[in-house]
Amino acid sequence: MKTRPKLIAGNWKMHPADGKGALELLRQLRARLAPFSRVKIAVCPPFTILHQAAVILKDTRVTLGAQNLHWEETGAYTGEISPSMLRAAGCSYVIIGHSERRQYFSETNENIQRKIKAAISHNLSPIVCVGETLSQREAGVMKDVVREHIREALRGMDEEALREVIIAYEPVWAIGTGKTATPSQAQEMHLFIRETLSDMFDLPLSDSILILYGGSVKPENARDLLGQPDIDGALVGGASLNAVSFAQIVRSGEEII
Ligand code: PGA
Repeated sequence: MKTRPKLIAGNWKMHPADGKGALELLRQLRARLAPFSRVKIAVCPPFTILHQAAVILKDTRVTLGAQNLHWEETGAYTGEISPSMLRAAGCSYVIIGHSERRQYFSETNENIQRKIKAAISHNLSPIVCVGETLSQREAGVMKDVVREHIREALRGMDEEALREVIIAYEPVWAIGTGKTATPSQAQEMHLFIRETLSDMFDLPLSDSILILYGGSVKPENARDLLGQPDIDGALVGGASLNAVSFAQIVRSGEEII
């Protein structure tokens, strides 16, 4: 098995409500994350705070990501943000196809694939979210759903581009609910994702792709999740809004490297 780096990424979603709170959180993160040197760290705040985040996090190991993008470079697309705008704002990552975007903003597999391609061609690493709902899990079709998400997102992609892709397995029933997949449930799905990737692409390549787990990751469960052989990091929502808990999750990652 190839040794993969660990990545802990914070997805702030549409938080905090005021700019002051965001700046304070960034300053706290800057201080609290300074001791860590092995785990890769990213924060994905709302668009409006990206520029200031880049200034505050300059000269730290904390990199920046966005939560969405449009695939076109420029144009009459009111309300959208392009990949080059994200690069100019200092981003290295972008979350694509989050279940909240699939559910509330009608994000389709087709658009998700366009976004992934646009991100890669602008040197942004896409964090591509996949995962089943509770009813899909209860019906026993969770692997079919996840396989479909992966195939539709990455279909036809060349292997060079695939090197930049990061997958986040986020069971929808675990997002913001306090219910986490058990480490063995998560590991089973991560291994299945890796097998799906190796069916689609070369084995050495699929073995090097990072697969993050997301869904109620907290300081209390991070160590067990991150200790699983196919879990290469975490996409953290709620707990990333508190610098102390986010730093504890990063510490768990550092301790098991
Ligand atoms: P959560 O969110 O950690 O609050 O469950 C994770 C996510 O939606 O990325």
